[in-house]
Amino acid sequence: MTIIRLPTEIRLMSSFKSISGTFDILPEGHTSGGDSIAPSRIWQHAEAAIRKVMGMYGAEEIRTPILEPTELISRGIGQLTDIVSKEMFAFERGDTHYVLRPEVTAPVMRAYQQHHLDQKGGVQRLFYIGPCFRAERPQKGRYRQFHQFGLEIIGATDARADAETIACAVDVYRELGLNDFTIRLNSLGDSESRPRYKEALIAYITPFADQLSEVSRNRLETNPMRILDTKIEKEREMLRGAPILADFLDDESRQHHEEVKAHLTSIGLTFQDDPFLVRGLDYYSRTAFEIESDSLGAQGSLAGGGRYDLLSLELGAKQIIPAVGFAAGMERLIMALDAANLIDIPSPRLDAFIVALGDAALSWTFPMAHSLRENGIKVGYDLKGRSMKAQMREASRQNAKFVIIVGEDELVAGAAQVKDMDQSSQRSVPFDQLASQLTN
Ligand code: HAM
Repeated sequence: MTIIRLPTEIRLMSSFKSISGTFDILPEGHTSGGDSIAPSRIWQHAEAAIRKVMGMYGAEEIRTPILEPTELISRGIGQLTDIVSKEMFAFERGDTHYVLRPEVTAPVMRAYQQHHLDQKGGVQRLFYIGPCFRAERPQKGRYRQFHQFGLEIIGATDARADAETIACAVDVYRELGLNDFTIRLNSLGDSESRPRYKEALIAYITPFADQLSEVSRNRLETNPMRILDTKIEKEREMLRGAPILADFLDDESRQHHEEVKAHLTSIGLTFQDDPFLVRGLDYYSRTAFEIESDSLGAQGSLAGGGRYDLLSLELGAKQIIPAVGFAAGMERLIMALDAANLIDIPSPRLDAFIVALGDAALSWTFPMAHSLRENGIKVGYDLKGRSMKAQMREASRQNAKFVIIVGEDELVAGAAQVKDMDQSSQRSVPFDQLASQLTN
């Protein structure tokens, strides 16, 4: 036996794998790094539900680039946040600094300003579905490339807009049959109430500083409110007596918060008012919320969002452009659907599969398949010149409703044998009647 040695570069190429924390979405489900990745049809099913619900809210799609200027993200989200300080995929070419977008809100606000969308008048409801990138430690439900869908309502201070973003996210989950989640809601006040609160919080936490984890100790210096987000039981215990932001709110923020809650109640949405809810992005003022799945474990945060009236100023606008929105992880949504046994969607069925025997029949297959496809019939056929048995197996694998069998005799007769796979019956159909008979 001769052993053929492949050139080194070919051997190396064949061992390429997707980068840890990223994954391929295939026609069939598979596992990647221990995680099960749903087939592409499940993603399409979820995306169709998202588009349907967004349509009900009068939202229109916006698609912004994956690449954005690094400064847009660092100014928008905040230099001291984990996302900007640790998790950006950023690089330079020449004098330009690029980042793979870690989220879509700052890009949407950039696009809104760049294209003067305010001049269209009224309020813009913009939705998106697309990939985002964060250099986090990959684990179940937490990826380096993940996908978000979201809605941004730009141009309204009205508390109904805040309630509407929450309702919209909930409607997407309900549309897909998911009902076990919890909405946590807080108000982060305005740019005056927050610094006063931070001062009080630092004063409360500082005496405990040497008992804090390293992460929390750093946050005490950089972003003390994020300590409220700690998952460490000892720290949560320590925080029980901490001052709460609700006691520091300015009157307008308090009023706004009450209105948001009343609107949610008016449509029967229940929520937990959670004074310790802070978000990992710095652009929020007033409303902040998260939607958590009751069935997913550690990575249970399905969606998050809030009001970000001051982001426009950070991004160079001359005046405040009020805005509120949410974003949700597609992977988390699909995990929750899976946990609730809601992703049993059959693969699409072929209408017909052509089984051809002999060279003449193989050539006949191509124009016939083309003509049937032009008539709206989903057709497959074998491209490898395999045996009849193998072709029949392929027809079953693709779950074809009909198998069209053509060999030399059929070519002479001008009629194919058509097997109805559901009825297990077979009949002869003239070639020129195939399209009409298969569509009836
Ligand atoms: P966020 O909380 O950073 O908010 O992300 C929103 C959602 O994206 C999370 O609840 C989670 O489902 C998903 N997600 C985030 N990071 C990952 C990851 N590494 N792997 C998998 N899923 C992830 C934002 O991004 C804001 N832009 C939300 C917003 C919109 N605020 C106002 N408008």
